[in-house]
Amino acid sequence: MENGEPDLSRYFEVAHGAGRCAVLTGAGVSAESGVPTFRGEQGLWKEYRPEELATPEAFMRNPELVCEWYEYRRGILEGIEPNEGHRTLASAEKIFEEFTLITQNVDGLHQSAGSTDVVELHGNIKRDRCNSCDAWRGEEQGRECACGGLFRPDVVWFGESLPPDAISMAFHAAQSADLFFSVGTSTVVYPAAQLPYLAKEAGAFVVEVNPEPTPFTPLADLSVRGPSGYWLPRLIDPLMPRNGQGVD
Ligand code: OAD
Repeated sequence: MENGEPDLSRYFEVAHGAGRCAVLTGAGVSAESGVPTFRGEQGLWKEYRPEELATPEAFMRNPELVCEWYEYRRGILEGIEPNEGHRTLASAEKIFEEFTLITQNVDGLHQSAGSTDVVELHGNIKRDRCNSCDAWRGEEQGRECACGGLFRPDVVWFGESLPPDAISMAFHAAQSADLFFSVGTSTVVYPAAQLPYLAKEAGAFVVEVNPEPTPFTPLADLSVRGPSGYWLPRLIDPLMPRNGQGVD
């Protein structure tokens, strides 16, 4: 820790009484599983330019190149397991009356760890859908849809809107939370980055978990510096009901 151990007493006071909890995760929560983040020293965007790969224009220009990049990223995910951070967030569903897990990640690792009803703001890399009629791509199908459109990864690209249901659930959860966690995200990509600010404005106690400071850090009620696989169990496991029976 940079400045010694942080004081967690106020956090535990609030967290023990919290009924509604919302969590926003970013690429950092999967870093300890071996999934590269987008920014930072080892970040994916250091090697590749987003506008050449993650835009609708890039796909129209060169669908093979874009699909290759996503196959490469799917390859990275093969054999990757969720880590302690994902598992802790899955168990957090048992603690609060309302719990919403919102992720910017497309890797599906929260679901693999047992989280249900994950709000996926940026889609999921494991699915393909038609760029014209939105049909899902079946396992045996090639790159072309029966309607004449092309199958593309079901992820949100730069310049595209987020899925409206996902964004409205996320905004609602952030604005009604007593306790909000911003975990492993650089909080620079909007509208996801707005969520901790909305939660804070609406009165939530906001915790940031990140080894590095972010633009949101000065506003966080608690900012812990370190990996989420280390911090989430320390912050969330003590809230588990003692008899092991949480809310259903
Ligand atoms: P970034 O790559 O921008 O940020 C990852 C964050 O995780 C950084 O702030 C790191 O300091 C932090 N981090 C690294 N290791 C960590 C660990 N072990 N535990 C906790 N935190 C750790 O990723 P995102 O904020 O998710 O969008 O990026 C947001 C969006 O930008 C992505 O969803 C993607 C990208 O372009 C789309 O593809 C639409």
